[in-house]
Amino acid sequence: MKRDALNAQRSIFALAVAAFATVTPLSAQDAGFNGAPASAAAQAYPHAADADPKAGQEIYQQRCAACHGMDAKGAGNVPALTTPHVQSAKPGELFWYITKGDLANGMPSWTSLPEQQRWQVVSYVKYISGPNAKPLGAAPASGSETAASTAKFNAPAPPPPFTDFRYEEPGKVRKVTVADLPKPYATESAGNTAHLVPRPDGVWPKVLPGFKVEQYATGLENPRIIRTAPNGDAFVAETEKGDIMIFRGITADGKPETTSVFASGLNKPFGIAFYPQGPNPQWIYIGNTDSVVRLPYKNGDLKASSGPEHIADLPSNGRGHTTRDVRFTLDGKKMLVSVGSGSNVDDPDTTPAEKNRADVLEFNPDGSGMKVYAYGIRNCVGEEINPKTGELWCSVNERDALGDNLVPDYITHVQPGGFYGWPWWYMGDHQDPRHAGKHPELKEKAIVPDVLLNPHNASLEMTFYNGKQFPAEYSGDIFASEHGSWNRSARVGYELIRVPLHGTGHASGEYEDFMTGFVLPSGDVWGRPVGVTTAKDGSLLVTDDGSNSIWRVSYTGK
Ligand code: HEC
Repeated sequence: MKRDALNAQRSIFALAVAAFATVTPLSAQDAGFNGAPASAAAQAYPHAADADPKAGQEIYQQRCAACHGMDAKGAGNVPALTTPHVQSAKPGELFWYITKGDLANGMPSWTSLPEQQRWQVVSYVKYISGPNAKPLGAAPASGSETAASTAKFNAPAPPPPFTDFRYEEPGKVRKVTVADLPKPYATESAGNTAHLVPRPDGVWPKVLPGFKVEQYATGLENPRIIRTAPNGDAFVAETEKGDIMIFRGITADGKPETTSVFASGLNKPFGIAFYPQGPNPQWIYIGNTDSVVRLPYKNGDLKASSGPEHIADLPSNGRGHTTRDVRFTLDGKKMLVSVGSGSNVDDPDTTPAEKNRADVLEFNPDGSGMKVYAYGIRNCVGEEINPKTGELWCSVNERDALGDNLVPDYITHVQPGGFYGWPWWYMGDHQDPRHAGKHPELKEKAIVPDVLLNPHNASLEMTFYNGKQFPAEYSGDIFASEHGSWNRSARVGYELIRVPLHGTGHASGEYEDFMTGFVLPSGDVWGRPVGVTTAKDGSLLVTDDGSNSIWRVSYTGK
């Protein structure tokens, strides 16, 4: 019912929004909260009782939590509602925004809710966005505190080559091509954020025979990227907390010998790069959400000897994709920094906040000489240099709200000066319907990426396997963490994948499920891979911000 109503409104609102945009293209930046007019800000709750957040809680849980999460912390490119940006919005502005929605960016219009309920949910959003808010009353708290469901998820199988969690299994080879893509809106845009539950007893990640999975470290806080230092220490970004952690060594029972905080107080740190490259680095470069900084580092350091040195500012306005990865070219002369878009599909022509976003930016290692290295890459979360070819590769999150099986996420080598489509085109010459008729001259320029993944996989960090432990055919292959979907009716991703390069350094388009099992038969989720690195001993270390742990995958041959 709710979905039908939404569909009916989709076209009407798309028109209304489009008309609004042509008249005042810059309004989103100039006016109040998300472009709200002054008249909206002036509007107060019609009845005093509507300002009581309790009434709005249930509406929130039924209508909003599927995307924004029970705890309103957001997921993927669904923003958290617990931010200063939302906190500072006036109730009337929130009411205006919720009523209008932002369909192009995946936020429904809520005219399907009676006005009073919209005001009530506004009061709940105001409450939950406050610094100390907790869910009110007896309602379930955050998803992580609720038990796993025992009911089996039941929905028709997806049309091949598309898949979902029920069909993911280690060793299964997949290939998605542009010929497989459905039309936009072939299915409706889903709101299906991970429902996190504790890992049930006896449940463990699955890998092929011969491989073994152990839980290397537990009790982390939101572990994201992981990178191996030249001396073998594993550096992990705890992004929300602002920390860079070091995990060193391995005990007889498979745990780290030491755990230390290398640096703290950083601004959403993500990318980690050692510089100069080779055996004796002098610095660690960190991609904060709004800057690149570097800290002095020599082999064996467990704590930074001084604070961060500012290297370069990065575009960031506190909205949209926050991760920034940092890599150096093989010759060490250039630093490549990925900066994801601020939105799902806002047009950079009319949205100044998208300037230099959805790009890979190039700098000199001292932060000077910024230029755009490649563009139209919506969100290259994980960057890596292919040691065989010296090319930059990206693991990319594509756009949402076009249906279950659009747009494929991807892994690709990146051509200097290359255009990867966002936001006007996708997968080569497919025009995004939300930008119909725009930039015809870019149609032929839009590059089709090397490896199309299942849409909404949320592909994050990638690594080229340079260890000696795995069988020889894995040498030089890519491993990538797939954090898992929110914008798909049946979950997909939530796994580690392998992209076989067959010793060539180039991808043929195929990829393979490598480590699966983070989703239960009910569809509840207990783990979400984020980072992956080749450890010194040739095992893989995989961070997981669902179970807040690090997994170690080794090859035993048994
Ligand atoms: C289908 C998924 C979905 C549902 C359901 C949903 N939202 Fe959203 N919401 C989004 C997305 C995606 C955005 C970001 C839009 C953008 O990038 O401009 C968003 C943005 C917002 C924002 C603006 C946040 C900011 O930082 O600017 C608010 C407020 C909001 N939603 C409130 C709600 C409320 C209240 C409900 C329930 C009545 C709700 N949303 C239901 C997907 C959803």
